[in-house]
Amino acid sequence: MASENAFSDGCAWVEGEYVPISEARVPILDTGFVRSDLTYDVAAVWRGRFFRLDDHLDRLWRGCERLRMTPPATREEVRAIMIETVRRSGLQDAYVEVVVTRGVPGAGERDPRRLTPRLYAYAIPYVWLVNPDMQDQGGADIIVARTTRRIPPGAVDPTVKNFHWGDLVRGLYEAYDRGAWLPVLTDGDGLVTEGPGFNVFALVDGALKTPERGVLLGITRKTAMEIAESLDVPVHVGDLPVSDLYRAEEIFLTSTAGGVMPVASLDGVPVGDSKVGSLTSRIRDRYWDLHSDPALSFAVDYGEASDRVGTASVRSTV
Ligand SMILES: Cc1ncc(COP(=O)(O)O)c(C=O)c1O
Repeated sequence: MASENAFSDGCAWVEGEYVPISEARVPILDTGFVRSDLTYDVAAVWRGRFFRLDDHLDRLWRGCERLRMTPPATREEVRAIMIETVRRSGLQDAYVEVVVTRGVPGAGERDPRRLTPRLYAYAIPYVWLVNPDMQDQGGADIIVARTTRRIPPGAVDPTVKNFHWGDLVRGLYEAYDRGAWLPVLTDGDGLVTEGPGFNVFALVDGALKTPERGVLLGITRKTAMEIAESLDVPVHVGDLPVSDLYRAEEIFLTSTAGGVMPVASLDGVPVGDSKVGSLTSRIRDRYWDLHSDPALSFAVDYGEASDRVGTASVRSTV
């Protein structure tokens, strides 16, 4: 039976209106589309609760500052819009994205300083980079990409969450060509960076290592580090040489889209005994438990629509 809720596949906020996800459109001249001139963030709702939304908003605001863009809405307005997209969709497990683009230039305009930033947001069903079955069965088969390196931080700042995915998508195709699920990209000088939508951790000599440079400062990465510390596992944020990855006892990937995701094999060779490693398993369990912790999450009120939110007040600014 068809759902009565037009937003049940997802709800977007575009130009001051909430629309079903299939009807959401981006103006074709928006520099976010034609120049990747934007930043964005993705938060998750799990079992009806937003997780670490304020951390995601902090990162979005830092990104806007670095790009010298002023978001066209206040932080409270953006927060309310994100919540409202979820409320309207009714989704209990959701992937909630917010995008701030430089804007739509007037005719012939080339000066980014003269544009007015635009805001988009949407909630869709939760996305898994590694689906739960694969995670339970040992995790993802990954490769270290050989033909693609990560865009250098001096070209595109990876700490500003961005759509410059050319290298990451190229890496994905290399993974598929080599019979794997996901690639990890290096900096081209033997150090691990990250992959398409995730950070990387390796358990090496009893310590958890994750790259410091050339990566997005993931919120899931932060959560995994906090959990590891609470378990008295040393965490080293610094260089992660590819050679360490090859001798790791356990490897896991972190992302809002999939959580703490075990790795079963690297370049076709099992990692550990190719079952989910015991530390990975403990961090992963704790990660999902934290989604109901009121210190890090809050419940979405799925009650009546709030038409005040994100329409009249914000519309005039975008
Ligand atoms: C390139 C990249 N690295 C890492 C991550 C993980 O970040 P988070 O844990 O905040 O989702 C993402 C998330 O989309 C990403 O796009």
